[in-house]
Amino acid sequence: MADERVDQSAREGPSEQATRPPGTQPKSGWRPFLSPERLGETSSTNAELIERASSGAPEGTVVLADRQSAGRGRLGRQWLDHPGGSVLCSILFRPGWPIGCWFLGGWLVALAAIDACRQVAGVDARCKWPNDLLAGAEHRKLAGVLAETTPPDGLVVGIGINCNWPYDFPRAGVPEAAEVAARAISLDRLAGESIDRDEVAAALLAAVATRWSTLSGPDGSLLAPGEAKLRAEYRRVCSTIGQEVRVELPGEVLTGRAVDVDEGGHLVVEIGSRLRAFDAADVVHLRPGDPATSR
Ligand code: BTN
Repeated sequence: MADERVDQSAREGPSEQATRPPGTQPKSGWRPFLSPERLGETSSTNAELIERASSGAPEGTVVLADRQSAGRGRLGRQWLDHPGGSVLCSILFRPGWPIGCWFLGGWLVALAAIDACRQVAGVDARCKWPNDLLAGAEHRKLAGVLAETTPPDGLVVGIGINCNWPYDFPRAGVPEAAEVAARAISLDRLAGESIDRDEVAAALLAAVATRWSTLSGPDGSLLAPGEAKLRAEYRRVCSTIGQEVRVELPGEVLTGRAVDVDEGGHLVVEIGSRLRAFDAADVVHLRPGDPATSR
């Protein structure tokens, strides 16, 4: 059962604020999504925000950090950042939607990040299913999204956007460094100039706030027109659709062509003459020109 106090305080006005636990009262002038709290170093902004969510932090709470000592990626991977060189951001939603639609929160943040990269750096990025951002001629990873649920009603969506990397980042020897060096990219390398990370964060959050208001009603319900628009937009920018993918199942490895994403956000893959839907844990996305063993 959802915590009534948390539900209401997340969506209602100042009279509800007095019922929040100490430390979760919004400061005066606080605006959902647009009043981020800035931290220096933290282990992980997602971990930090999940803790706050469980103490009743309201929807629209945002945490930004300069660096993470234990940044988390999808599928248990580590997320590497160059200190002060990335937008490291986590956003709390409390969607009153069917749980099967919560993945739309990750899509929304990815689309908002595409907006921000275009607006601030003039960089056009596309989505690699489910939520990565790829950019540049080599389709390298520019940003990653990690969505984590926090019971009973919270969804924390974290995003890391590579903004400014020194020439020698990432240094060899760190786990994941070789993969980052081979397959990732930063906005400054793409734009050919230094990027104002705060501007990227501000543009990201403004886009999240606008997009959220078209997707989630004041009562927390999923708004059908906004949902249809978001799904259509995601399909338009999802570069995985039309690509070859490898599907790894216990005891078998399949290769096929991704043809769509379904209602539940699964990737629909044409394997031989059959269409099958898979979730993120099973699918390795192959980029154009990749050998079949690459990630
Ligand atoms: C991925 O590509 O695997 C997802 C990476 C998500 C990284 C961001 S950085 C901010 C937030 N805090 C974390 O610990 N992870 C996410």
